[in-house]
Amino acid sequence: MKPKVVVAYNKVSPRVLDFLSESCEVTNFERLDTESLPSFYETLRDAQGLLTSGVKVDSALLDQAPDLKIVSNIAVGYDNFQIPELSKRKIMATNTPGVLNDTVADTVMGLILAAARRIPELNQYVKRGQWNADDGVNLYGTDVHHKVLGIIGMGGIGTAVAKRAHFGFDMPILYHNRSRHVEAEQTLNAVYCSLEELCKQSDFVVLLTPLTPQTVKLIGEKHFNWMKNSGIFINASRGATVDEAALIQALENKEILAAGLDVFEQEPVSPDNKLLTMDNVVAVPHIGSATHETRLKMAMLAAENLVSGLQGKMPPNMINREAFENLL
Ligand code: DGY
Repeated sequence: MKPKVVVAYNKVSPRVLDFLSESCEVTNFERLDTESLPSFYETLRDAQGLLTSGVKVDSALLDQAPDLKIVSNIAVGYDNFQIPELSKRKIMATNTPGVLNDTVADTVMGLILAAARRIPELNQYVKRGQWNADDGVNLYGTDVHHKVLGIIGMGGIGTAVAKRAHFGFDMPILYHNRSRHVEAEQTLNAVYCSLEELCKQSDFVVLLTPLTPQTVKLIGEKHFNWMKNSGIFINASRGATVDEAALIQALENKEILAAGLDVFEQEPVSPDNKLLTMDNVVAVPHIGSATHETRLKMAMLAAENLVSGLQGKMPPNMINREAFENLL
């Protein structure tokens, strides 16, 4: 008998569903809302696998899924998973590192360029017919090339950003990370420094750290004070890694020049959020990895992780490996 798998992801590709269906009995929930939720929980009751992106997998959900063997996230970040709870219940957890690095790095460069050169704001000028509204100086932006880039979180995505900045934009790179990244130091001249030094010396501060209990509100008032008044802050990690009230204050008080944000404390972001009223904030709806090609790769990798776990093998991208080392 094929194992039962629940897919909770909007618009998963038919290719991924076909792959899963070869070895699993699949039920697909494109949307979880008040209408579909009872049926989702009903289907989870005897499911062995759950493939999802961003659905909160905590004890409340796991209590409804007593047969679950593996949860597979279609994302590299897995702050939606309660890992200790999953390990305690001997449920494998997997994610999708690597395949999205270049795409997210492209998004980060896009946010840097958009914020520094004020592209969304000036796009509005042109579309409103205000091309000649002033003498032009008010439309000037700030250079990106040769400016100092500070990267907080030098993993695969951070390295891909550093590569673009170093080779493409001649930017000196500073970085802060849990551990030293010798290769980035050797090949990209990246310089390791404290968070304080990074904030003080960088023209662009890019936050890429995963959300963990240790990184909640990692960046707050103190860091924005350290930053240059001409500094631009980019967040492509998770909204909760930043004290959003402090960011709003820093922008209002002109302690920093601008921000480029892919993520927000609350998502979808509230239309009342003050950040959305500021011309010097470029906001996109958590689309760091959202291209057709990369989202397909991520979903396929997540499906492969899921299938190998259900086949009794160690999935290639297992998060809670320690809990299983002696079991598989
Ligand atoms: C991730 O993979 O964690 C991204 O944030 C999803 O777009």
